[in-house]
Amino acid sequence: MTQELTTSLATEPARSSESPGWWRDAVIYQVYVRSFADSDGDGIGDLRGARERLPHLAGLGVDAVWLTPFYASPQADGGYDVADYRAVDPLFGSLGDADDLVRTAHELGLKVIVDVVPNHSSDQHPWFREALADRPGGAARARYHFRPGRGVHGELPPNDWESVFGGPAWTRTTDPDGTPGEWYLHLFAPQQPDLDWDSPEVRAEFDSVLRFWLDLGVDGFRIDVAHGMVKAAGLPDIGHTEQAKLIGSQVLPFFDQDGVHEIHRSWRRLLDSYPGDRIGVAEAWAPTAERLALYVRPDELHQAFNFQFLKCPWDAAAMRQVIDESLAATGSVGAPTTWVLSNHDVVRHLTRYADGSPERGLARARAAALLTLALPGSSYLYQGEELGLPEVTDLPDELRQDPAFFRTSPDGQDGQSGQDGFRDGCRVPLPWTRSGESHGFGPGGSWLPQPDTWSGLSVEAQTGDPDSTLELYRGALALRRELPGLGDGEMSWLQAPAGVLALSRPGFVCTLNTLGEEVELPVPGRALLSSAPLTYKAGTVCIPPDSCAWWAI
Ligand code: GLC
Repeated sequence: MTQELTTSLATEPARSSESPGWWRDAVIYQVYVRSFADSDGDGIGDLRGARERLPHLAGLGVDAVWLTPFYASPQADGGYDVADYRAVDPLFGSLGDADDLVRTAHELGLKVIVDVVPNHSSDQHPWFREALADRPGGAARARYHFRPGRGVHGELPPNDWESVFGGPAWTRTTDPDGTPGEWYLHLFAPQQPDLDWDSPEVRAEFDSVLRFWLDLGVDGFRIDVAHGMVKAAGLPDIGHTEQAKLIGSQVLPFFDQDGVHEIHRSWRRLLDSYPGDRIGVAEAWAPTAERLALYVRPDELHQAFNFQFLKCPWDAAAMRQVIDESLAATGSVGAPTTWVLSNHDVVRHLTRYADGSPERGLARARAAALLTLALPGSSYLYQGEELGLPEVTDLPDELRQDPAFFRTSPDGQDGQSGQDGFRDGCRVPLPWTRSGESHGFGPGGSWLPQPDTWSGLSVEAQTGDPDSTLELYRGALALRRELPGLGDGEMSWLQAPAGVLALSRPGFVCTLNTLGEEVELPVPGRALLSSAPLTYKAGTVCIPPDSCAWWAI
């Protein structure tokens, strides 16, 4: 069946590209430091390992890297429990290694974004130790949320809030004399007490922490739980359970409160006081695209992760709707949209899209990469997606480290973490070489075992193979740099059959077939790149099932 590809009048409003910053259309690669490259053989990735592998990222063609937390931490939550915001954990190296990494990245033309974790500290942070040692109502407790319990003897938590990782969001303390004391709030693990952003000391400390890393030369921050720092006054009950399921669909008294925006505005002023375009990226879960856009108003942060797109199923109509809503919402405040398919907190998209067939998952993941890289705005790549890595779904329980796994149920088996899944399976260290210790991840094994099949998925195995996923990404990123119509700018939809998306950018068309069967279309132009081989008939092209193609027009 041949279908017409004609321009429809339904187009997105053109966004101004006046004085665009580098970040407006940057491709930013997430390095999950623990699992990227290990230089010292302890089985855990580190900053020197990451620095040595930066040429891979420069060669891949990305613009920037985002490094997940490498700060001093007891690692109760993969480093998102920070005990010293200005120190590098010995597990990952030293401050000198961080400095070297930033310099090397800059020499290679890569920007560097680091994580900042302002919603909570580690329970081993000196402030929390001081708070525990202080009396109820004492100044050291004012930096956190300490409250007396409810019930006759204070034996019940102060309110009904639940931790994102499962279980109550409160833990009771023990007073120095051994009697049960106040409770403290932790929206995540008990080892991650929430800071109280009403405290001027907390605000001043984070200003200073941001300056510390900006002075070292970083180009910006990924702001962890950017929607969580302000809690509703009085910490009101929610009134029902399974609250984690409401995150991202409802405003909760602990997330997406209007008060967070004033903090982001003050951080924007701080970022702008530095030379160069230093950016803030919000990890914010908001109920709608419109509420998410509030985080990227001109005087707030530069970008916010687009989780609505990440959560979208493999369905052309649903994808088109999310794309339209995302562009309209961010366009209304003059910000670029971000496109994210995976990160260290969700099941890898290859597996999410697989519907039980890894081959189908790979085909769709390759197609999704071409779609997202063709959309206006900035794209985030999660390490290993350029290799077509699937989620590892058979990790032995005794090797798991995700606190959500342990807090969800006594045996961790019920799958109700409130997130897309447990988070070790997307954090398995990268395979760099076909063979050798941990496939080149490092000289001493890896903290989570890599499946044997990853030999063929290694960087070494895929390099130079024109059919490999790695070369597909390299080709796409090279074209994205070359073609003026890609990146920031205009986009419009072309008419296409149900199940197919066809989008037009200046001089360029992208066709995505989400169906399980091939679709025949009039040839849109000169084929530039496709995620699966195209075949031609007189004047028409067959777009294979679950595939995407780029065309020059
Ligand atoms: C963010 C991080 C996640 C972490 C949580 C608590 O969602 O991405 O990995 O567990 O914040 O800091």
